[in-house]
Amino acid sequence: MQDKASPEEAARRHVLAALDAEAGLDREGTAWEDFGLRFDLHFPDLARLFHSLYRDREDWLDQLGALVVECARSWQDRPAELKALDARRLADPDWFQAGTMLGGVCYVDRYAGDLEGLRERFPSFEELGLTYLHLMPLFLAPEPNSDGGYAVSSYREVNPRLGTMEQLREVASELRERGISLVVDFIFNHTSNEHEWAQKAAAGDPEFSDYYWIFPDRTMPDAYEKTVREIFPEDHPGSFVQIPDGRWVWATFHTFQWDLNYSNPAVFRAMAREMLFLANQGVEILRMDAVAFIWKQLGTSCESLPQAHELLRAFNAVCRIAAPSLLFKSEAIVHPDEVVQYINPAECQLSYNPLEMALTWEALATRDARLLSQALERRHNLPPGTAWVNYVRSHDDIGWTFADEDAAEFGINGFDHRRFLNSFYVNRFPGSFARGVAFQDNPRTGDCRISGTTASLCGLEDGSPEAIRRILLVHSIAISTGGIPLIYLGDEVGQLNDYGYADEPGHEADSRWVHRPHYPAERYARRHDPETPEGQIYEGLRRLLSARAQTPEFEGNRLVGFHTNNAHVLGYQRLGDPDDDGGLVLVLANFSDAPQHVASATLSGLAGDAVDLLSERPVELADGLTLGPQEFVWLRTKYRG
Ligand code: GLC
Ligand code: GLC
Repeated sequence: MQDKASPEEAARRHVLAALDAEAGLDREGTAWEDFGLRFDLHFPDLARLFHSLYRDREDWLDQLGALVVECARSWQDRPAELKALDARRLADPDWFQAGTMLGGVCYVDRYAGDLEGLRERFPSFEELGLTYLHLMPLFLAPEPNSDGGYAVSSYREVNPRLGTMEQLREVASELRERGISLVVDFIFNHTSNEHEWAQKAAAGDPEFSDYYWIFPDRTMPDAYEKTVREIFPEDHPGSFVQIPDGRWVWATFHTFQWDLNYSNPAVFRAMAREMLFLANQGVEILRMDAVAFIWKQLGTSCESLPQAHELLRAFNAVCRIAAPSLLFKSEAIVHPDEVVQYINPAECQLSYNPLEMALTWEALATRDARLLSQALERRHNLPPGTAWVNYVRSHDDIGWTFADEDAAEFGINGFDHRRFLNSFYVNRFPGSFARGVAFQDNPRTGDCRISGTTASLCGLEDGSPEAIRRILLVHSIAISTGGIPLIYLGDEVGQLNDYGYADEPGHEADSRWVHRPHYPAERYARRHDPETPEGQIYEGLRRLLSARAQTPEFEGNRLVGFHTNNAHVLGYQRLGDPDDDGGLVLVLANFSDAPQHVASATLSGLAGDAVDLLSERPVELADGLTLGPQEFVWLRTKYRG
């Protein structure tokens, strides 16, 4: 009989037996009932995914059983405050679509010294209106170079320079009281070479050697390297590094970041444990680092393989069972067709929007908004229950990840265009206002990416008179296209590049540190002074944010394109609730340095009397509309009836 059961049913029986056999689980009360309900709902997915990923491993059922027992224990240990949060979120699953959502991101040490110092920043977070705070990786990591903390030596220890796990729990809880969700990275593609697992692997322990991709000689590495791309070629060529005993280990990023072997179910289970540990500290959103790379298969690019999605779904199912309010944000900085594949409620509910980010900079350089407009029209809308995280720039470089086939429709050659953009942003192109720095310039492939703060890339460092208008313009796009806008903290007061990075041990070879400056205290001190650039940027942004918060049309993602018939002017529509009276907000944004006109015929489908939500002034559309250089308007209007 048993043999005839479907794999899922067999798995269910096996797992229920494992749960039964587990002493130390409190089977009384509503907490256990809740667990049972969620188990019934989500275990079928987990079992199906586990079977699909791991059925060839003889221990797959035992691993699955042990995993679910760990879920039950983790749920049992989950603090009451977080169980209450779970209940709130389950009752309001669209909480993150609110027009008041605003993200900020910072490094604890650079922005505030340590976790204690971070508390002093809480009032300014509230002043800005943050509801989401991403603390850059703050776990134990190698010194002096840990790729900014992206090489984790223990997911359960805060870097002692920054504080303790107990302090992190307190920070999470205090932020929550202020309406701010704590976001940290789940760096699950790799560990540092100093992680206990890596050290055991390096010492030859076979159990832990199987946690990584380790090969005795170059045969397999050579075979894999035929088809994978190099991510940090300045660090090491290819994707493998040799360890002292002569074996080769997979290291996609730096030599000290060893890729985990997810074809081993023990690795999945071990990382699920670390994930649930973080969830129970009070982290509300996990930024899923480097999602594209987590599954490898010979003869492929080893990026965005179907199993990478299955793994994410399996991790997500684990959360739904044991930490149901936890959300995932995908970090896939890849081709736009691939980016969206990670975004759905069963996988990652949130995602960086690297295409909008890159094309905003593209439009700023070219003064031509057509590629951005096309991307918004075609590639912006997401499934219900998901949202973009729209950012102007992050702690990482800007990579030109637009689709070549999209660009080709305008007669633009992707390769040449990237070369132009790189030369523009490193200030090698005549007339450029940008002061960026090249990152991972790869002469062999012609690939290169750009580092720089928003202000330096917009011309503030260069003394360009349009710089402040450009800074507000690029943020206005991230703030009005729908989803969660995310500010790299310090950019809201126009922080500039920090060329001193080269003197910091461990940072000298990584130009991304140029745009990760220390807390710009003097700039913050001037943020309310309208005579200063800081004041103009900061108050300008606050005006955008408050107008957005009062505009229901900006909630959710729903965006409809709008052809302005002027290549310099970007247009899009944000629609209100159709059950209301069909109102809409038309966004128009001029990327040119000269005034630009949108013709009356182009606007003729709209009611003539609009209101600009930013200036709160009426705007007459009958004669068309002229926008000043870098000017943008948010027009509340209606279709002409
Ligand atoms: C992510 C991080 C990046 C890091 C890489 C390796 O992409 O954003 O900073 O270098 O992962 O962990
Ligand atoms: C590559 C990777 C991305 C990573 C970045 C770091 O673009 O695709 O995941 O964040 O490199 O520079």
